[in-house]
Amino acid sequence: MNNAKKFWIETFGCQMNVHDSEKVSGTLMAHGYAPVATMEEADLILFNTCSIRDKAAQKVFGRLSQFKALQEQGKKFGVLGCVAQQEGEAIFKRAPHVSLVVGSASYTRLPDLIAQLDAGEKRVTGLGEASDEAFETDFTRRDNPHRAYLTIIEGCDKHCAYCVVPFTRGKERSRTSASVLEEARRIAESGCTEIQLLGQNVNSYRDPSPAGWSFAELLARVAEVPGLRRVRYTTSHPRDFHPEIVQVMGENPVLCDHVHLPVQSGSTDVLRMMRRDYTREKYLERIATIRACPRPLAVTTDLIVGFPGESDADFERTIDLINEVHYTGAFSFKYSPRPNTESLTWGDSIPEEVKAQRLAILQQRQQDIQWHDNQRYIGRTLEVMIEGYNPRHEQWVARCSTNRIVNFTSSGLRLAGSTQRNGLPVFSQPMQVGEYVHVRITKAGGNSFVGEHVAAPGPGTPLAGPALPGVIV
Ligand code: 5AD
Ligand code: SF4
Repeated sequence: MNNAKKFWIETFGCQMNVHDSEKVSGTLMAHGYAPVATMEEADLILFNTCSIRDKAAQKVFGRLSQFKALQEQGKKFGVLGCVAQQEGEAIFKRAPHVSLVVGSASYTRLPDLIAQLDAGEKRVTGLGEASDEAFETDFTRRDNPHRAYLTIIEGCDKHCAYCVVPFTRGKERSRTSASVLEEARRIAESGCTEIQLLGQNVNSYRDPSPAGWSFAELLARVAEVPGLRRVRYTTSHPRDFHPEIVQVMGENPVLCDHVHLPVQSGSTDVLRMMRRDYTREKYLERIATIRACPRPLAVTTDLIVGFPGESDADFERTIDLINEVHYTGAFSFKYSPRPNTESLTWGDSIPEEVKAQRLAILQQRQQDIQWHDNQRYIGRTLEVMIEGYNPRHEQWVARCSTNRIVNFTSSGLRLAGSTQRNGLPVFSQPMQVGEYVHVRITKAGGNSFVGEHVAAPGPGTPLAGPALPGVIV
């Protein structure tokens, strides 16, 4: 009979949080806790939270209140992550069934903090502003055996006027290149072929060991780790996105054909108010450098509409920019005033209807661009890594180097011996999740592709117009 205490963790927000939850799970497992599949089975229930926009933060409190009754069964609740750091002890008032509040800069102390709870303390917090070490653990429990996250830098020293992250995640702390490479090797040795390097601003990575590598140098070395076939990274700040990064990407095709380069606004006036430290022109120079890479690279971005003082003309500049850049994807948001931030004091001057209208116009335009650009992929072949199988659509689900989803069928290969049971094909799984195969695109939507498996990429007809990222032929 296993007497291990059981925990359950629910994650909100970005990849950084998803990966933090993997580290927290690993740490707890190393201290005798066992993960369980449902909240009801757990003794310790953790919410790893996001506070980037107000809606995300409110969602956490909604979710917490749903499970208040479970406290009567002796279960303990903990709030981790950005809302924990931001709200601190106020969480105990708003959700009295919570007994543990821990910000991401204090996760190394988590086993101690939980031990205090187990020893009978009613309320325990870990809210140190900035630990001077990155949260590293030998016990990361990765959820996906084929794609692994790997943190290279924690925190953020930029102070964009709207952003809560410097307050919730503390100051920048880079990991040593040796520890990053060692973890990358370990990941590759486990059979995993894809790594995504993570940080709030990976470009400002600076190796704290005497080697003193820049991000570009680290990227080049990680891409050389034997066994890795795909290396990605996120997220980049345009100011620090130096041309050497593109050069390194051009030299090693293991580095995926994708750059995520959040612009936030196409108006230099708004960028100045946002304290982004670059102009529209400077940003476009970065794009030009990316476009000059010998291998075509897909570029995606983040955009905010309705920042205080954003005029119709400013917004038009943003539309103009997306027309010019032709992003392959964009996350766009309505401005949300956040605690502690500089722009909080400037009010929220753009009415909700105007924000909503601008967002709808922006998203529609961006969708049209993506749909239109993606049509050029029809007839081309991409290399994809298989992520799963969708039995309802009888399609494999995979991802290409530019990080877009490719759904595909595989005629013949998929059917087993007798091939039919109750009129349905019997699925023989000749292909495996994590495998790399070639897919010829037959249909393109705005965000994903449909295609068919091809054994080998045949000779392709020459492509009219600019080169397409991720295309084999
Ligand atoms: N309001 C709206 N969007 C925001 N983002 C960050 N802070 C805010 C805010 N206060 C967006 C930015 C960032 C992405 C992760 O979230 O576009 O790049
Ligand atoms: Fe991630 Fe930022 Fe949300 Fe924190 S606030 S979880 S860092 S997106």
